[in-house]
Amino acid sequence: MNKRLISIAIDGPAGAGKSTIAKRVAQVLEIEYIDTGSMYRALTLKVLRNNIDPKDEKKIIEILSKTDIDIKNNHIYLDEVNVNEEIRENIISKNVSYIAAIKEVRDIMVGLQQNLAKKKSVIMDGRDITTVVLPNADYKFFVTASVEVRSRRRFKELLEKGEANITFEKIMADIIKRDSIDSNREISPLMKTPDSLLLDTSDKSIEECVDIIVSRVKEVI
Ligand code: DC
Repeated sequence: MNKRLISIAIDGPAGAGKSTIAKRVAQVLEIEYIDTGSMYRALTLKVLRNNIDPKDEKKIIEILSKTDIDIKNNHIYLDEVNVNEEIRENIISKNVSYIAAIKEVRDIMVGLQQNLAKKKSVIMDGRDITTVVLPNADYKFFVTASVEVRSRRRFKELLEKGEANITFEKIMADIIKRDSIDSNREISPLMKTPDSLLLDTSDKSIEECVDIIVSRVKEVI
């Protein structure tokens, strides 16, 4: 049977629960989950490993041309090495916004992401998916939560991973700073498009959010 490809686009700020929800929706609908943030994180990892200043655009663009980034079965590969764990470290979260604000970086990543969506049915999350990467997606969602709730989630996540030297206040300050860079940058700032359904996860369980998205999609397919 020739099944039509479907695309689900999700945008929202850090810690809103996008990736957890999108991963579950992908399982339920048996489609591919693409975490676009992981691609910016992988490049950030390479930049830091090479002792490049995350604000040095020239050097970052130079290293980008010698970098291979790919996503396969939910795993992110940097120069063919799986870096799923390393990209989640707090040092990456703190620096990734600077790298994601560079036009040349975004152009390359957007191209890679659009290619992935041409081959398979996907659910993709990030900051510019509904606006730039998949503006014609079949379904669009803006997933968010209050700053307090998002900071609490990130703090808990990092504590569970055994990250040292963190406090709730520091994590909240990082999240506010990241929100501001992501939403105010010149190129593809984070915003809700009029045709995206707003999903506030502050007082909802993951399963409730998954059900909202899945039932929306099933109404139509
Ligand atoms: O979702 P995340 O925390 O893994 O995203 C990491 C960073 O990458 C975040 O600061 C925003 C940026 N990003 C982006 O600019 N565009 C995307 N499509 C995905 C992430």
